[in-house]
Amino acid sequence: MQKPVRISPSILSADFAKLGEEVGAITAAGADYIHIDVMDGHFVPNLTIGPGVVKALRPHSDRPFDVHLMISPVDPFIEAFVDAGADIVTVHPEAGPHLHRTLQSIKAAGVKAGVSLNPATPVEAVDYVLGDVDLILVMSVNPGFGGQSFIDSQLAKIERLRTMIDRSGRTIDLEVDGGVTPETARQVVAAGADVLVAGTAAFRGGAARYADNIRQLRGVTG
Ligand code: DX5
Ligand code: ZN
Repeated sequence: MQKPVRISPSILSADFAKLGEEVGAITAAGADYIHIDVMDGHFVPNLTIGPGVVKALRPHSDRPFDVHLMISPVDPFIEAFVDAGADIVTVHPEAGPHLHRTLQSIKAAGVKAGVSLNPATPVEAVDYVLGDVDLILVMSVNPGFGGQSFIDSQLAKIERLRTMIDRSGRTIDLEVDGGVTPETARQVVAAGADVLVAGTAAFRGGAARYADNIRQLRGVTG
């Protein structure tokens, strides 16, 4: 069943020179999760942060850390991110040859497991792991960078996943990442998503704007 919308601001759009403060500010502004994009310059054409930064940010927020790993291989790094304070660890099926094994090792480390589907990755990639995941992340841009435009074809994918999740009777978050604005947020929620990642739209305008940005993403007007 679709749950109330939760907002997971992506710190990729925060001011990296004062990341701790930024995570504190977006938490105070009403973020439900903190989305942390980890990139390796190999699986995706960009480099971001590692477990040391995640650990340093941990005291700045009491919200679950939603760690999106865009790295390959991924298995050797799971433990380090869990030890650093990740609460949800999300991986891409293309990041390794044994998705089921990877999900098992995330669960064995004691945190929630997610699978992320690139724009061209079909929903069937999760058919046989629905019992092993807590979250499915639909990429509505090609992973690697913030500030890209939402890819409309992903709305049909969100609808299909909503149906699959509801049929399974399992509690699985359906999260959408990339190009989420107050406008596209309405569409993805109507399609069945219940967790919205937003970088640009959450962090625009500086800390004084964050609470309002989050309210708008939730669909609260006025
Ligand atoms: C892209 C990342 C996203 C990105 C979203 O690879 O996974 O989380 O930061 O940024 P916006 O909301 O600006 O599209
Ligand atoms: Zn992400």
